[in-house]
Amino acid sequence: MKKSCALLISLVLLAPMSWAIPAEGHKIMVAGPSPYAVDVAKKVSQMGGNAVDVAVAVAFTLSVTSPYYAALGGGGFALVKAKDSVEALDFRETAPAAYTKDSFAGLEKNASTDTGHAVGVPGIPAGLFALHKKHGKLPWARVLEGPIALAEKGFQVSGEWVRRTESEKSRLTSKKLFFTKEGKSYLPGDILKQPELARTLKKIRSQKEAGFYKGEVARDIVASVQKAGGKMSLEDLKNYKVRWLQPLEADYAGYRLYLMPPPSSGGLVIKTALNLIEKINLTQVPALSVDELHLLAEIQARAYRGRALLGDPDFHKNPLENLLSESYLSELSRSIRKEKVTTLAALPENFGADTKKEHTETTHFSVIDADGSAVAMTVTLNGNYGSGVIAEKSGVALNNEMDDFTTRPNEPNMFGLIQGLGNVVEGGKRPLSSMSPTLVTKDSKVVMALGAPGGPRIISAVLQVLYRVLGRGTDVDSAIQAPRVHHQFQPNTLFVDKDKLPPETLQALRVRGHMIEESTLAKVYAVRVNKAGILEGAFDLRGEGAAGGF
Ligand code: DON
Repeated sequence: MKKSCALLISLVLLAPMSWAIPAEGHKIMVAGPSPYAVDVAKKVSQMGGNAVDVAVAVAFTLSVTSPYYAALGGGGFALVKAKDSVEALDFRETAPAAYTKDSFAGLEKNASTDTGHAVGVPGIPAGLFALHKKHGKLPWARVLEGPIALAEKGFQVSGEWVRRTESEKSRLTSKKLFFTKEGKSYLPGDILKQPELARTLKKIRSQKEAGFYKGEVARDIVASVQKAGGKMSLEDLKNYKVRWLQPLEADYAGYRLYLMPPPSSGGLVIKTALNLIEKINLTQVPALSVDELHLLAEIQARAYRGRALLGDPDFHKNPLENLLSESYLSELSRSIRKEKVTTLAALPENFGADTKKEHTETTHFSVIDADGSAVAMTVTLNGNYGSGVIAEKSGVALNNEMDDFTTRPNEPNMFGLIQGLGNVVEGGKRPLSSMSPTLVTKDSKVVMALGAPGGPRIISAVLQVLYRVLGRGTDVDSAIQAPRVHHQFQPNTLFVDKDKLPPETLQALRVRGHMIEESTLAKVYAVRVNKAGILEGAFDLRGEGAAGGF
């Protein structure tokens, strides 16, 4: 099913909702949440840009078209195969220096979600600059052309843009940027121009990172955060650094997977779960049967169990070796019963003789090219429009990533996660994440790049798509749209895709002991080289999306 890219893009632009057909392309393929991103990707590719140039341009484009989860005031991770090796780039937000593990104890409960205290030092501009500097081919200024034009000349807001913006109206500290002069909501299809953001992007174009982390934009961010009660300083912005990390590797079904290591928990949980899937021979169980869904839930509960022991590797010794040891994984596998739920106790905080080192709403897109380069990038502000704090003069919405720390031990965060002491707040530290950009290789060539937004549900979504595509041979689009289950260990609840499974299946899962809650699960964006060697891309019908190849 070959499609011309131009046709596909115009269809997607006209379509009232997402299309989830795999789009087959030639040299380069991208799947992400906005058709504008695909359009900019095409232009960058036509200028002679490589997969990294495309990824950087797409990320900047999303900061314009999708500020609720991709504004420059957020952070993220990327898995990158540009030359011979696969690298992980960590441009996650960082706690400002003034914060300590006790900072949130005496504050209002919503301090880590809705105030200036919620805002971590943003990482997106630094991350995109570092990625381009290391692996980009086109000049920096050219990569920013498309996003700047969209901010300056405007773009048509989508239905999802309107819904996500309208729902935060009372919370945003500035209405000016995202509502009409009369304070009204825009309607789908209305043109939104963002002159403030265009100016910020131009500063980044001419001054690189310094255009954001120093000078006027930095002063605006700090003033906006402080006005909303937070303690971020100019020094915090000036000190922001990205990290290049060694990915976590896993072998599954004859493929080599490259997964995000801490400060993401995604890699560990996915690696654990895939190991258990192989140990219990899950592919022998009929797809989407009650048995399969039950076993997937039991596997996930066990895999997420180790998450609570993780934290930023610069501040905390992560017991990865113990959590991935053959003896621990075999013990987990032996504890799974086909006929009923068996609930394990939480791991003790000192599991694996864990010792502290002495001080020494999200989106994803995937890009792959015919030469085997690929980028899987997930960016986030955490909640929808993050903290709701807006740096108005710069046109930048700011994250609420501080809520991803263990701000109050034993209390669930906004995703219901009860997190461990390795993830307490410390100045300069990065909060534990679930973001799971992932690359899959076969014979050293990338054959798939994927990831998702959705908090902890990211991990189970990426896991189930990997399992269905690689383990069961399902095509990538069907694997993305297939019903999913999500179990994050705590709460002891099985979240199932809303309206996707028959009532009899849910009842049969209840009989096995699952506490069921129907819910919206994460959205996956994937590109891959299919068995015929053709690039294809697919996105999730659970939200907005587009895919195109050129
Ligand atoms: O890093 C994390 O795990 C979260 N901050 C991600 C939040 C998210 O995916 C929200 N998206 N819907």
